[in-house]
Amino acid sequence: MWMADVIKLLDQAYFSKDDLVSLLAADESDTKLIFKKAAEVREKYVGKKVFFRGLIEYSNKCAKNCLYCGIRCGNTKVQRYEMTEEEVLEAATFAFKNNYGSIVIQSGERQDKRFTETIIHLLEKIKALSEGKLGVTLSLGEQTEETYKKWFDHGGHRYLLRIEVSNRELYAKLHPNDHLHSYDQRLEALKTLKKLGYQAGTGVMIGLPYQTIRDLADDLIFFREFDIDMIGMGPYIEHAETPLYGVYESVIPLNERFRLALKMIAILRIMMKDINIAATTAMQTIDKQGREKAIMVGANIIMPNLTPVKYRENYLLYENKPCIDEEAEECMSCLEARIHLAGATIGYGEWGDSKHFNHRFPTQPTD
Ligand code: 5AD
Ligand code: SF4
Ligand code: FES
Repeated sequence: MWMADVIKLLDQAYFSKDDLVSLLAADESDTKLIFKKAAEVREKYVGKKVFFRGLIEYSNKCAKNCLYCGIRCGNTKVQRYEMTEEEVLEAATFAFKNNYGSIVIQSGERQDKRFTETIIHLLEKIKALSEGKLGVTLSLGEQTEETYKKWFDHGGHRYLLRIEVSNRELYAKLHPNDHLHSYDQRLEALKTLKKLGYQAGTGVMIGLPYQTIRDLADDLIFFREFDIDMIGMGPYIEHAETPLYGVYESVIPLNERFRLALKMIAILRIMMKDINIAATTAMQTIDKQGREKAIMVGANIIMPNLTPVKYRENYLLYENKPCIDEEAEECMSCLEARIHLAGATIGYGEWGDSKHFNHRFPTQPTD
């Protein structure tokens, strides 16, 4: 594209699918313009602050068998764990004392009563230890409306449920063909979360086998049409103990996947100016400065890992995941430095809610 064309395109209020495909396919010099525009939009609409979400990888037990994921139930080489209540509360206390503002509780997907009740119990304890001050995001997969409602009533106020890919046919290629892995159910679950009043987050993987640029353009349109509050997306990274390993159909090299992920973040920032976008850990797996780069092109959320180190090597959704040996303190100071290098500041002690959500619900109390 001619430079003038990109500049004109970037100033449009609305991108069509063809516009998005052109932007995603932009060459290096046009990509610089996209990144520059995204940085300006970020500064104007969400400011310089990056908010922490302390990540607690509560358990790697998962009932599902997604074809790309290292902790799928079919991978018998993984040692399964569940953090104890004390460990979870210790991690939450660390987050609270260090002014993180919020935590994320993430886990493999399970719907058994013991699991859903334990989460309620943990929510109660976390709210108590922080006098309700610590924000809590849940990322615990698909659940019934009743469970989502209970968790919401006990203080979970944001929920991350990635659609993984918004194209139904592609979804079917990346998941087993059974009732546990239904695209429609996943979409329904996302709708339910929004209906219940959660700040709703979703996301996709970038650079998957069979995935095309047009699919990624559709993903961006999906986020806009769904009017999503938060996004976490990153490159797909192979894991040897998964069925997708060794499938090379339309797979792009890792460095290109990374560039594409950065472009997705930047374009989305320009499209949805006031949402929260995470600089995901997977970005750092490919590029040592991956998370800083994501911040520079529009991301404003980062998730320092709080999972006890003894469990980390068992929570490998993909290979070469960073921060396997670093304790919470190390990740905290590492990320502080990275954020400053990216020219941003940290929103200590703030929930850092999605401004988009606050615009959708102007009367909702936040901090
Ligand atoms: N590469 C990158 N991301 C992955 N996830 C699962 N497996 C992989 C992989 N191989 C992502 C999914 C899931 C999130 C918790 O991790 O998008 O929603
Ligand atoms: Fe389980 Fe999530 Fe991995 Fe799928 S992506 S196997 S639901 S942990
Ligand atoms: Fe964990 Fe850098 S964020 S070591």
